[in-house]
Amino acid sequence: MSVGIDRINFYVPRFYLDLRELAQARQQDPDKYTIGIGQDQMAIAPLEQDIIAMAANAAYPLLEEDDKDLIDMVLFATETSFDFSKAAAVYLHDLLGIQPYARAVEFKEACYAGTAALQMACDYVRLRPERKVLVLTSDISRYGLSSSGEVTQGAGAVAFVVSANPSILAISSQSLAYTSNQFDFWRPYYRREALVDGKFSNQLYQDIFVRLMGQFLNIDRETIAELETIHFHLPYSKMGMKALKALRDQNSDSLIQEKVDLWLERYPQTTYLGRRVGNIYTGSLYLSLISSLIYQESFEPSHKLALFSYGSGAVAELLIGELQDGYQKHLDIESMLDQLDQRQALTVAQYEQLYQESIPVTEDEFIVCQQATEPGFYLHRVDGHRRFYIFNKINPNPKTEIRVE
Ligand code: CAA
Repeated sequence: MSVGIDRINFYVPRFYLDLRELAQARQQDPDKYTIGIGQDQMAIAPLEQDIIAMAANAAYPLLEEDDKDLIDMVLFATETSFDFSKAAAVYLHDLLGIQPYARAVEFKEACYAGTAALQMACDYVRLRPERKVLVLTSDISRYGLSSSGEVTQGAGAVAFVVSANPSILAISSQSLAYTSNQFDFWRPYYRREALVDGKFSNQLYQDIFVRLMGQFLNIDRETIAELETIHFHLPYSKMGMKALKALRDQNSDSLIQEKVDLWLERYPQTTYLGRRVGNIYTGSLYLSLISSLIYQESFEPSHKLALFSYGSGAVAELLIGELQDGYQKHLDIESMLDQLDQRQALTVAQYEQLYQESIPVTEDEFIVCQQATEPGFYLHRVDGHRRFYIFNKINPNPKTEIRVE
């Protein structure tokens, strides 16, 4: 029996910034952003699209009524948490109407956390093949205005349902993880923006990838020989390519030398969505997987794919998946691409204004958004430090408030 990703979807907020405009405002050569970093746009979240609303919007189209009864766990990975105690997963459990006898917890280890959740989900379903798990990744990536990290921001969520006999990608129980206590990127609780040692973070990411690939090769050469594509956690689209080139430079094994050419050839398709969205931290690796599922023309059922998950701090893991027959039929490609195309471009001034906005930290009621202009979940108000969400139906009934405490 195989276990893995049965359904997958992403959500991005309705605004974006064209990075050529940002380059102009920051007096940088636009090529530095679009070629040197490899990003074209970054998604920008208004206050009402917080991590909960984005995750609910990513998950909502995936769930059939049956799923809500079969899901035993809601696992939420984020590094944009607003509560140190209550898990974001508890809100999602309620908003999505999951059966009550379920677990709901939040995972943290920078951008790696979604993979920890996926692994827990797969292990759970291997023991209980008739049950399912909902995994959510949702983040808003923030660096300082005019900082070197500014161009690598983004916002969005990826949701997936894990089940037995999955329709999209079976995940192998064989994987390889690595942990090392480092300060490449971290965010103490009193800061809204991350602290980052940009150059060191790039180096560490590549070193850990090279190390994990070398070790995997020692353990299971056959699987490396079968790998058709490698997907990366993508803080920006050039990062994975740098890691592949570092592997080629530092590992002289003939199999690696032969395979890197194929992996580089398939690499651009893994980045198409990320180039338009930016870094969504926990979801970036899975956005890269969706990008490949949409754009790789050479994919065939039973192809073996690798997923390199990297979380600063640092924890990484190399996962192996096997593509399932007919996987395209289970992806709503049109809706996913439509939401990107229908976004509204912001000027740099509008982006800076949104960047400065925040929810007041008081007991008083604060209306975040009276009436959303688009269908889906949004954060309506905060009252007594409690967040309340509304599901805005398309038509004809505009609003149903869902109270969450
Ligand atoms: N035309 C074409 N390319 C140009 C150019 C131009 N005019 N000007 C510069 N470039 C190239 C540079 O040569 C460089 O290429 P290489 O990386 O191949 O050498 C590239 O553009 C970037 O230039 P710099 O190194 O000068 O860029 P920078 O110092 O301004 O910052 C960054 C880049 C370090 C990634 C910064 O954006 C940053 O700190 N980002 C946040 C941290 C991050 O994303 N780290 C990634 C690993 S950690 C991780 O993955 C976890 C996570 O999600 C954060």
